[in-house]
This record gives sequence, structure tokens and C-alpha cells, in this order.
Amino acid sequence: MKVALSQAQFEALQVLLARAAGLVFDDSRKESMAYSVAERIRASGAPDVDAYLLLLDDPAERQRLVDEVTIQETHFFRNPPQVRALRQHVLPELLRHAEVNGRRLRIWSAGCSTGEEPYSIAMLLRELLPSTSGWDVKVVATDVSSRALEAARAGVYGARAVQMASPDQLTRFFFENEQGRYEVRQDVKDLVEFRHHNLVTEAVPFAPSERIDLVLCRNVTIYFGRETTRSLMARLHHCLRDGGYLFLGHSETLWQVSEDFRLVPLGTGESAAFVYRRLDAKRDVQERRAVLPDRRTQDDGPQQPPERRVTARRTEEAPPAQSTAEQLLAKTRAALAAGLYAEAAQLAADAAALAPLQVDAFYLRGLALVDAGRDEDALVDLRKAVYLEPTLGFAHFLLAGVLDRLGHPAAAAREYRAAADTLGLQPGDATAEELGGRSVRELANLCRQLEVRLVGQVEEVG
Ligand SMILES: C[S@@+](CC[C@H](N)C(=O)[O-])C[C@H]1O[C@@H](n2cnc3c(N)ncnc32)[C@H](O)[C@@H]1O
Repeated sequence: MKVALSQAQFEALQVLLARAAGLVFDDSRKESMAYSVAERIRASGAPDVDAYLLLLDDPAERQRLVDEVTIQETHFFRNPPQVRALRQHVLPELLRHAEVNGRRLRIWSAGCSTGEEPYSIAMLLRELLPSTSGWDVKVVATDVSSRALEAARAGVYGARAVQMASPDQLTRFFFENEQGRYEVRQDVKDLVEFRHHNLVTEAVPFAPSERIDLVLCRNVTIYFGRETTRSLMARLHHCLRDGGYLFLGHSETLWQVSEDFRLVPLGTGESAAFVYRRLDAKRDVQERRAVLPDRRTQDDGPQQPPERRVTARRTEEAPPAQSTAEQLLAKTRAALAAGLYAEAAQLAADAAALAPLQVDAFYLRGLALVDAGRDEDALVDLRKAVYLEPTLGFAHFLLAGVLDRLGHPAAAAREYRAAADTLGLQPGDATAEELGGRSVRELANLCRQLEVRLVGQVEEVG
């Protein structure tokens, strides 16, 4: 059956689908829209297009139309450079990070279609971590299409879907049923949780404090408008932990969409995958420290960024415990640079126990806890840090971010102002290691902008 859509009918459907799922149908997709509508007219028994449009007041029929028009094309181990990057770099690194952070790993396959993508991730995880006992590992897989999710939960596929799987993977992760179809094995299914979720109209499907290690949102935004993609990327940025990864499809880019992520090549030459990483300025520096040769000599002692030199005075006030506390703080910095946040937090706590006036102990513990996604715990240490040293601009900056994430915009605005003011006390040409050698003035300006944004938010709500 074929229907012809009038311009007015097409426009009504365009508006409805943009609102319902952010989907953009330009004129080139009018024909395919007409096919989908014809299919729904046939199934619903509506006499014509106008009668069918009335049925769309019912959310259940809207969902069926969304199921019909969304493009579910996908397969196992799609995009080999990305699969290689996942296997060789990203998943091992995330597992190392999780190992010292409660053995908890969260991956989100956003727009998972019929399940091939999240199951592929679960299979790669199983290769690296055959037993997850004692671990809390989950691949949360979401899609707006109920029909796709039903197929995903069933986990039974034809030969075409599995053609990129190696013979080993076929044997290990599937069994072939009597109809010659491939069923995903239970130990893979156990790692994946499917949920219905609309990336455009709903908040992210996680608790506000939950931080995600890796988001795959591949080949989903190609059907969205620029603004829809922009606001989605802001939400993905917010739910990712610092250092977390974002994978987009190879025709998708954040160019002119978001400046919040850093594009990182993984692998070399033609087989390199370009993925995005949520990296805060301070993390950039930690990474640099981890990869750059240490220029200090043994005698130089622990490296002190300019802001933290103010602590030397306090250091002198507690000589007996000081050398040990300094050693612990040096170890804390090394652990931070290696991404061992739980260890860094513990070392800093030990230093604080030895030298309770040592502001760096609280500042570094706060930093480690923020990196570990433990905002509520970080709050306590960062407050102590700014109490002990009110001119510590970076502590104000971190504290502001924590308060903002915990839903205290007014307090966060005050901290951004304190950060801007105290960072502004530095000489105009000062640079900060925390910012990869960039200007402290830049950070002060950023803090002022963030303060203005938050004050605006508070006023809007008030
Ligand atoms: C082409 S598939 C991509 C599947 C998989 N990510 C991959 O790259 O192989 C696009 C998926 O995005 C889903 N999608 C489209 N709009 C969505 C929305 N607003 N919220 C959630 N999922 C959406 C579609 O239902 C479809 O399953």
C-alpha cells in the first residue's frame, strides 16, 4: 500500500516526530515517511491519512509510528577501529580505574537499537574480565523504539548481524539454534540491562549523582537537528565522569556542537579511532604529568604549583610530622597522576591525620574524591581547604563545581566568585600547571562566566 502525503500532512508529521523524538525529516525523506505512514494506516485500520493523524493523539500510536520511522541499522562489532580502541585501550583503562574505585563500571549504549552494540561491548568485557564476581559492571542499553528493545532483549540474530564476529567469538558468545540463528549466551546478557528511554525528551536514565565511564551514542544524532544534538551532548557531558569516554558514529562530530570534550586518537594510522573524552583542565595536567618525563631532580622535592606555595608557612608550623606528611602528599600527587583516585584519597587522609593544618592534604583529598565521582565526600575536604586557606583559588573552583553538581547553584555561584577573585590575585601572566600551563586569568574569566550563568539560573527559579 502506498499513500501520498500532502505538504500540510507531512509538516504535521515533521513537527510531531521532532517533538516526540527529536527526529528531523527533511523533504528528501518525505517518501520514506509516506511508506511508514502507509504501514501504520494498514496496521491500525485507519481509513486515510487525516484519520490516522487523529490517532496520533494516543501516545501508544505515537510510539508505534516512532518504531516505524526510526532506522535500526546496526550489527555486532560495528566500526572495527572503534572496536580495536575499546579492546586495546578504553576498556582495559576503565577496568583499571574501576579496580581502585569500588570495582564499579557503568557503560551506556544510548540508542542501542536491537542490541548488537551493547552485547558487543559486553562480549569485549567478558574477554577482559571473564568473571565479574565481586564487580558491579553494567551496560545500560536504551532506545526510544519499543520494538527494537523487544528484539534486543530476545537476543537472537541472523547471520548478517554477526558477520563481523570472529569464529572464536561466535563459539564463545553465541549458540546456534535449530533455525540456524545466533542466540546470545546468558553470561553476556547478564551484563546488559535494557531500558526504554528517549534521548531528546527525557533526563538521562541515571541518578543525579551517578557517573558513567563510557557512553556510546553512535549513529543516533545523525537524525537530530543541531540544537537537539547540542543539548543532548551537554547532558552526556554532565553524566560522564571526568576522564570518561564518548563514542560517536564516524560521520558524527562535535565540531561546532560542543567544546566540552577533547578529541583523542586511539591507535595509529588508518586504523586509529577518534573518540571524545570528558577531560577537565586539571585532568589534562594529570595526564601530562603521567606521560611527560619528570624534569625534577631528586633534590627538588615534591612539585608545588604557585598557589600551593602559600602552604609552606603552615608547613613550618608543624615540623615533626611535616616530612612524613610531605612524603605522603608527594605520593598522593603521584597516585592522582596515575588515576588511582581511591588510593590518592587515602594517602591524603593519612597526611591530614599527621598534619591537620596542612591545607594541601584537604585540597588533594578533595581533588581525588571529585575525580572518583564522590562529590558529597569531596565537599567536606574542599570546605576545610578553603577555610584553612581562603586564597586557594583552585579549591574554590573545585568546590564550586561540586556544589553546582549537588544542586546548590547559589552557593556554587559564590564559590565561583571567590575562585575568580582569588585567582585574580595572581600576577597577570601567571600560568597554572592545573591548566596545562594556560593562563590563570583564563580560569578566573571562566569562573566569572560560570558565576553569571548560575546567578541567572537562581534568578530564573526565584
Ligand atoms: C542506526 S541505530 C544505531 C544503533 C547503534 N548505536 C549503532 O551504531 O550500531 C539508531 C538508533 O537510535 C534510536 N533513536 C532515534 N531517536 C532516538 C531518541 N530520541 N532517543 C533514543 N533513541 C533514539 C533509534 O530507535 C535507533 O535504534
